[in-house]
Amino acid sequence: MECYETQMRTDPMALMSPPTMKTNPPNLLSEAAAPRDLVSIHDLSPAEILALFNLTSMLKQRPADFRGVLAGKQMVMFFEKPSLRTRLTFEAGMDSLGGSTFFVDQTASRLNARESLYDIAHNLERWIDLIVLRTFSHSVVEEMATYAGVPVINALSELEHPCQALADFFTLQEHFGDLSKIHFAYVGDGNNMAHSLLLAGAAVGAKVSIATPERYGLNPVIVTMAKAIADETKASLRILIDPRKAVAGADAVYTDAWASMGHEHEAEERAAIFAPFQVNATLMQLAKPHALFMHCLPAHRGCEVTDQVIDSLNSVVFDQAENRLHIQKAILVWLLGGGVGRFSARSSHAHA
Ligand code: CP
Ligand code: NVA
Repeated sequence: MECYETQMRTDPMALMSPPTMKTNPPNLLSEAAAPRDLVSIHDLSPAEILALFNLTSMLKQRPADFRGVLAGKQMVMFFEKPSLRTRLTFEAGMDSLGGSTFFVDQTASRLNARESLYDIAHNLERWIDLIVLRTFSHSVVEEMATYAGVPVINALSELEHPCQALADFFTLQEHFGDLSKIHFAYVGDGNNMAHSLLLAGAAVGAKVSIATPERYGLNPVIVTMAKAIADETKASLRILIDPRKAVAGADAVYTDAWASMGHEHEAEERAAIFAPFQVNATLMQLAKPHALFMHCLPAHRGCEVTDQVIDSLNSVVFDQAENRLHIQKAILVWLLGGGVGRFSARSSHAHA
C-alpha cells in the first residue's frame, strides 16, 4: 500500500495550465493525472471549468501540438441511445490525440441487461483506459464510475449532458469573454440539458434564467446543487415558468427538444404544452439585439425553434457542435494525462 500512497499525482489544475513551451505540451502531461470522472458538471470546480476552457482554446488553436499525447490510450464507448455529434467528436478527438476508440452499439438492450455493472466495470478496467457512456439511467453512469478503476465520462444520461454544456459555455466565452457578465436564458423542457446548463452557468458566475412548463420543471436536487455553487460564484439563478420573462434582456437564448430520447411517445401531448416555449422571432425580440441562439442539436424545426431563428446570423448552433470536439479533447487530455497516468494507483493491471 505504501508505494501507492507515496505515488505522485498531478493536480488536474496543473495539467490544464497554459504551456510555457509551445512546442512540447506532452511534457506538461507527463505525470499521472488524478483518476477522476466526469459524470456531472458538479464533478468540476468553477476554477477547473475555466482551466478546462484554457486547455480547450489551446487544443483548438494548435491541434498539431497535441498530436500523439494520448498515444497508446484506449477508450470504449457504450451508447444506449443514438448519436451523431457525441460519438463522432469523441472518436475524431481521440484519434487526433493518438489514442484509439472502440464503439459498442448498446441500443438494442440496456448495458446491465446481460451482466452486472460491477462485473462489467472490473472487466473493462483490465483492458481499457477510459469509459464513455450514453445511458437512459443516470445511476448506470454513477455506478460505473464507482466501480471502475479508470475514468468514466457521461456522454448523456437522463439527468445530465455535461460535455455539451461545457462546449456551450466555452462557445459563449468565445463570443462574450467574461462569462460572469452574461445573461443566459434557457426555455423548454427541464431535462438533461437544462440541468447541466444550470450547473455550468452557476459555476461560471453567470445570470441564468430557466423557464419550463410547470409539470416539466427541473430536478430539485440539481437546483439545490446549482444554488450552492451560485453562493460561491455569485451567479444569479432564476427558475421561472414564463419564457418571456426568462428571455427578456438575455445575451443568449437556448432551447432543446420538447421530447428527449426515450420520451418520443409523449411528443404529441408535449407539443401542445410546450407551444408557448417555441423560440421564434417574436420571443427573440425580447432578448438583447445581439443575443445568440443556441441549441445542442438535433433540432426539431417548427417545434422548439423556427427555421428563421436557427438559420439566423445570431445562431451559433454549429459553433457549439464544433466545440464539442475541442472541449472533449481537453477532457480526454485532462482525464488521461498522456503520460504515466495509465499506470496510476487505481489500476492494478499492466497494459499490453
Ligand atoms: N448534442 C448531442 O449530444 O448530439 P448527439 O445526440 O447527436 O450526440
Ligand atoms: N435532451 C436531448 C438532448 C440530445 C442531445 C435528449 O436527451 O434527447
